[in-house]
Amino acid sequence: MNIEFGPEIIPALQAIEDGNPSLKLAHLGNALSVLKCSLPENSWVGIYVYENGRLQLGSFQGAPACEIIAPGKGVVGTCFAKNESIYVADVSTFPGYICCDAAAQSEICCPIEKQGKVIAILDIDRPDHHDFQDEVKIYEEIAKILANWL
Ligand code: SME
Repeated sequence: MNIEFGPEIIPALQAIEDGNPSLKLAHLGNALSVLKCSLPENSWVGIYVYENGRLQLGSFQGAPACEIIAPGKGVVGTCFAKNESIYVADVSTFPGYICCDAAAQSEICCPIEKQGKVIAILDIDRPDHHDFQDEVKIYEEIAKILANWL
């Protein structure tokens, strides 16, 4: 896969859909893979699914990660509690940041909604300091596509 992260990622992800419900997990895995391949090496991409009152690690690509995050905690839990995208150019500045891998330097989280409810969080870590400001809309669009496979 040779797409650099940018608007072109959206049609690439949409092209994964083939309407076969039994392939949802495969589609989700491939979508996360396309996304990871578009980012710098050692980035981490994954989802945390809201279940049993907590955010539980779902499909992901990258280094092993924390399995359970409480709503309101860390970047992931804050994104969930506020139901809005949160991005941090330098994770050391985020109060209550949860470190799963020392390689992570910047992070963006976007809510994934289904029928008006946040059911999961899309989480991206990059190994560099990165300002996600111009990319938030693209990540939010990705979150909408991933909702089809959850
Ligand atoms: N850093 C996150 C924890 C999840 S990992 O980045 C995979 C946080 O502060 O919520």
